[in-house]
Amino acid sequence: MHRLIMSRSWVVVLALVAILHVNLVRAARLPSQGKQLLDNNFAAVVPQDVDVDVDDVRGGGIVSLVRLAFAGINDQGRSTGVSISWSTPANMDPGAFKSVVLMGTEPGNFSIRHENTGEKSQVTYLPGGSAHHHVVVLDLLPGTRYYYKCGDDSDMTLMSKEFSFVTEPEDISKTSFTVAVWGDMGQGECSNGTRTQLAKKYGEYDWAWHLGDIAYQDDWLFFDKAAYEGVLDDYMASMEFITATKPYMVLPGNHEVDCHSMFCILDSTYRNALRNFTAYNARWRMPSEETGGVMNMWYSFNYGPAHFVSMDAETDFPGAYENVHDEFFLLDSGHFNPTPNAYLEWLERDLRGVNRTQRPWLIAAGHRPMYLYENATVLRAAVEDLLVKYDVDLYLSGHIHRYYRTYPARDGQCVKGYTAEDREGRVVNIVTGGPGAIDRPMMGLGAAWTKAKGWLAGGGWGAGGVDQDLVAKETTEKSFGLLSVMNATAIRWELVSGVTGDTIDELVLTK
Ligand SMILES: [Fe+2]
Repeated sequence: MHRLIMSRSWVVVLALVAILHVNLVRAARLPSQGKQLLDNNFAAVVPQDVDVDVDDVRGGGIVSLVRLAFAGINDQGRSTGVSISWSTPANMDPGAFKSVVLMGTEPGNFSIRHENTGEKSQVTYLPGGSAHHHVVVLDLLPGTRYYYKCGDDSDMTLMSKEFSFVTEPEDISKTSFTVAVWGDMGQGECSNGTRTQLAKKYGEYDWAWHLGDIAYQDDWLFFDKAAYEGVLDDYMASMEFITATKPYMVLPGNHEVDCHSMFCILDSTYRNALRNFTAYNARWRMPSEETGGVMNMWYSFNYGPAHFVSMDAETDFPGAYENVHDEFFLLDSGHFNPTPNAYLEWLERDLRGVNRTQRPWLIAAGHRPMYLYENATVLRAAVEDLLVKYDVDLYLSGHIHRYYRTYPARDGQCVKGYTAEDREGRVVNIVTGGPGAIDRPMMGLGAAWTKAKGWLAGGGWGAGGVDQDLVAKETTEKSFGLLSVMNATAIRWELVSGVTGDTIDELVLTK
């Protein structure tokens, strides 16, 4: 016990030293950006030289940070609509704005009006902070472009500009589509190259899946306690060109859990308002109610001939990394299970329930990998058998700020081929955590520092040689993935450079 206490004390001391170091470097490197964040919560870092007119797909005005997600489910398992979420400014009276969506199938002609007057229509989790509005619009026509505005239609100046999106095609057996996939992105210059490439390839993907560690708002320690909200706002504004026009699905990472700033920790209002994934669960509305999940922590959805499982790699399974407290032992966290073991029971029920004739492709994702860092064995022990049992084709993750593709693997062993036979009883793991996370430049400071950070954060930054024999392809180049479900018998994975836009890696799996 004594050794355990000493060990934990050293973890805390070393963690604080690491945090101090990280932020001294960061503060020295990004002073103007930090000031900008404090000056204007809604400032956007928008990519330049892009093929999509980014300024034309930003909410602006009172309504900002507009984001879409799949919503609703019919008896065929199809999403029947979207949730539309947006934010209105801080320091307004709660409920000062209605939560209304106007929508139609022609530009400027809105035949549909949805107002959410329910308890969850708008959430303000930080006293005096922004309100986050959610409206679910169901019963949309398949394969149809819808135009919409959101805000308060009692005064049209309180509405967003007009956006549009396209619903899932009707015949899922003939639906081919592409998902942009990445984890660990963050706001600012580290990820701007990837953001620019996502804009250049805007027409090549139908929706996006961000595998946790969204904005790194928790890591801004030496700025005002409001920096947490400002960084998150800035990130979301910088991605609005995607999020307002294509479903943007999210899952929880370790950087969503709470604030780490000493100013925040010492202020009980901020500390309590931002703890335990509160901002993450308040700002987005994932389809968990439709699929028996819990908030934005775990849920699933279908699209075309594929089923997607959004897993929680942070809490609510044996040994979960943030189910008692966050990784710096600062604040309590976790415990989203409504009943003991509810999450893993849900995961098995969800995997078992997939009609593989209708949806032969089963894609799972969580923030943390099952391989390639020291503590990956914890998650692997909890979920790998289930993923194998139900023949999951791909497990996508982030957390490690680089790219790995494994051979089909189970229990640390692999077969070095990708045929259907090779994959039988094994799962292909893809780690796509390298779009340019905000602490990525720290990777350049040497192996000792990388190893220290890896130990402090459970190996999150560096793989350190673990499971290298499973690796078929790896790179540290900034990158993101494009997952194309081509038909019922073929999917294609492509890793795209966040620097040049070139293809770095490619894998085709067939049934
Ligand atoms: Fe992470």
